[in-house]
Amino acid sequence: MADATHNLSLEEMDRQSVIHPFTALKPFAAGELGGPRIVEGGEGIRIRDTNGVELIDGFAGLYCVNVGYGRTEIADAIHEQAKKLAYYHAYAGHSNEPTIRLSDKILRKTPAGMSKIFYGLGGSDANETNVKIVWYYNAVRGLPQKTKIVARRRGYHGGTVFSGSLTGLEIFHTAFNLPVPLALHTTAPHHYWQAEPGMSEREFSARCAEDLDRLIEAEGPETVGAFIGEPVLGTGGIIPPPEGYWEAIQPVLERHDVLLISDEVVCGFGRLGSEFGALHYGMKPDLMTVAKGLTSAYQPLSGSIVGERVWKVLEEGTERFGPFAHGLTYSAHPCGAAAALANLEIIERENLVGNAAETGAYFQRRLHETFDGQPMVGEVRGEGLLAAIEFVADPAAKRRFDPALKVGAQLAAACIGQGLIARAMPHGDILGFAPPLIVTPSDVDEIVARTKAAVDQVTDSLVRAGDLKAA
Ligand SMILES: Cc1ncc(COP(=O)(O)O)c(C=O)c1O
Repeated sequence: MADATHNLSLEEMDRQSVIHPFTALKPFAAGELGGPRIVEGGEGIRIRDTNGVELIDGFAGLYCVNVGYGRTEIADAIHEQAKKLAYYHAYAGHSNEPTIRLSDKILRKTPAGMSKIFYGLGGSDANETNVKIVWYYNAVRGLPQKTKIVARRRGYHGGTVFSGSLTGLEIFHTAFNLPVPLALHTTAPHHYWQAEPGMSEREFSARCAEDLDRLIEAEGPETVGAFIGEPVLGTGGIIPPPEGYWEAIQPVLERHDVLLISDEVVCGFGRLGSEFGALHYGMKPDLMTVAKGLTSAYQPLSGSIVGERVWKVLEEGTERFGPFAHGLTYSAHPCGAAAALANLEIIERENLVGNAAETGAYFQRRLHETFDGQPMVGEVRGEGLLAAIEFVADPAAKRRFDPALKVGAQLAAACIGQGLIARAMPHGDILGFAPPLIVTPSDVDEIVARTKAAVDQVTDSLVRAGDLKAA
């Protein structure tokens, strides 16, 4: 209950009135976790809280503040647009200039064959839209049972009812009655944990494709509408595809007339050092999901991008069933589009996609040099400016830590102690990195040095506690 006197600190008011995502509610509300950290400003790759603590944001918020903090140019674009036209809807053929210009710009960056964009507010709703488009597409084609959507275990596609069902992480399902029917999961494309001993990456990719084929056959291809995957699997552990993965997966989809949705919410707009993950890995998606890097999070905006083959069927559908009966009040929001345009202009002008490739390669090299073969490092992996270090109790035996030790969370906390945000990924003892695309090689050196200090500190404390053998 809110205190009527309102004589509370901001921290206290937060604890008594805000539900935070992915937070242990009871100890947080009781103040036992010491939060909230109230972030009040940011510049470049750094954020600052109300206690004056400055942190390097090695995760760009939630891999989204790609152009970095404090870009007044984007703020000005939002301001100007809000003064001119803060809002009008996009229903029944209404439009606005920034949305038109943005759509034209995006479609010049996407892989060949992409045709139109439907706008939403975030990655989850954009995936909901893409799933509805798949259902509509198959209904119009006279295949109304072709509705199941296959995702991967450890994939992340959002937190709403169907996108959360596609997410392949148990913690997002438990006690929420998820996954709902029609959402299926196939093998996680993680060579380190999933491959048989001695299996090459290519052999493992072939096995992933066989597993997918077997699942589709078992369910009945006439019931499977689409396969959804992140080009590099993100929140489930930052796992680049094993060699030959997309090459092996796509023929299975074609054989069974199953559409491919490339969930580019993290990878889109440069994070891997290419404009899109699909271009990076030679994928030929039928639909794409974009959000995050589209506006660098200066405004909430997402897109469901539809390829020509699907678009043609949507057109046919509205001839038969009337207007496309899907929409959100804030679809094609002019302030969101203005922010996206200003953001994409910065990305182009500063060649941030090129920087993600170059500085990203340097980042990956520095992480390998620093952490490969270290006492509790199982795997160092990544692509471009997306990277992870996975920690295990015994690398030689590939033995995980006891989850009760919360080694990932200890490491993230130790990084904070060093003035660095690295994300404890929700499945396993994994530190994730996705710095803003503006990072320089010297920023990378700083991030790696701070991470090393944090890892050394946690290693020592685990050895002292007898939870890790001394090197
Ligand atoms: C690949 C992917 N898809 C979808 C989403 C969901 O996006 P949002 O949190 O904006 O709803 C995320 C969020 O992290 C994501 O990483």
